[in-house]
Amino acid sequence: MRTIELRGNEVILIDQTQLPQRLVRVRCRSAGEVAAAIEGMKIRGAPALAAAAAMALAVTALRSRARTKERLLRELESAGRRIGRTRPTAVNLFVGLERALSAARAAPDVASARAAVVQEAKNIAEEDVRVNRRIGENGAALLDVGDVVLTHCNAGSLATVDYGTALGVIRAAHRAGKKIKVIATETRPLLQGARLTAWELRREKIPVTVVTDGMVGYLMAKGMVDKVVVGADRIAANGDAANKIGTYSIAVLAKEHGVPFYIAAPLSTFDPNLKTGAEIPIEERRPEEVIFFRGVRVVPKGVSVFNPAFDVTPARYITAFITEKGVVKPGELSKLFKS
Ligand code: MRU
Repeated sequence: MRTIELRGNEVILIDQTQLPQRLVRVRCRSAGEVAAAIEGMKIRGAPALAAAAAMALAVTALRSRARTKERLLRELESAGRRIGRTRPTAVNLFVGLERALSAARAAPDVASARAAVVQEAKNIAEEDVRVNRRIGENGAALLDVGDVVLTHCNAGSLATVDYGTALGVIRAAHRAGKKIKVIATETRPLLQGARLTAWELRREKIPVTVVTDGMVGYLMAKGMVDKVVVGADRIAANGDAANKIGTYSIAVLAKEHGVPFYIAAPLSTFDPNLKTGAEIPIEERRPEEVIFFRGVRVVPKGVSVFNPAFDVTPARYITAFITEKGVVKPGELSKLFKS
């Protein structure tokens, strides 16, 4: 199931705000429409945002009437600035933009620049699927028969082009017959765990139990969690990792209870330019996401609300990173970037 696709001169994506009630796709005909879809959380998840960003530029290129390469580049850069303002935390979005723009810049003329952006967007999507499958194989080896794996937010097919990172690991282990059971935290305020992770796993008949975010300590104290596998939005050079708000609490609890805590992420989620997690920009979203629960006000009027969308888990809580190049400990990250 492809979460996002470039079809003709349109980007077609699953509207994730409609799940689990309805599986519907929306069409975006411009970078502005893709940007609005990202801001409205129709498409989300770090690797999916890389594809969305590059496809937004591909659509811009395909619809452009520019007769010179310089003119086309100006249009692409303007579209890129719009996409770049949507969500700051997942580095993949910026990697997707930069790859598409670089492809255009390297082309000799306007026609080949247009073709290069489109090709690069397609490459990013195809690579994402291949990389996730490799992450899945590498991570499945860490899971034992009968393991109960806790995951947070949605790092599945829906957060990528297909297959998923953390859920890719779970999928691969399930397909290898390891009889994995999953605990999915609901992930307040937007419920990516309850709505999206549970939906994906149920479709594949992988046993899943949804719990509220506050239940994780209780479950671990009872010995009900064998391993944690989550995704990431940006990982600094020292291994500090930003992921959905609540991940840090789960990591601290995992350490307290001796539960291995893994982050499954492609190399494109690593940002070696940032020394530590303190430099990762954390998106703050609208308070209304917390104030209202599915349209019903749950916080009294006049009460202030704080809504950071991500937190940073310090490297010391992370057992290992599961990447397409293998499983590496936080202290060994430099290995990944040696060619
Ligand atoms: O706000 P979201 O839903 O985009 O947050 C997504 C996450 O935090 C995911 O865990 C992360 O992007 C990894 S997805 C493979």
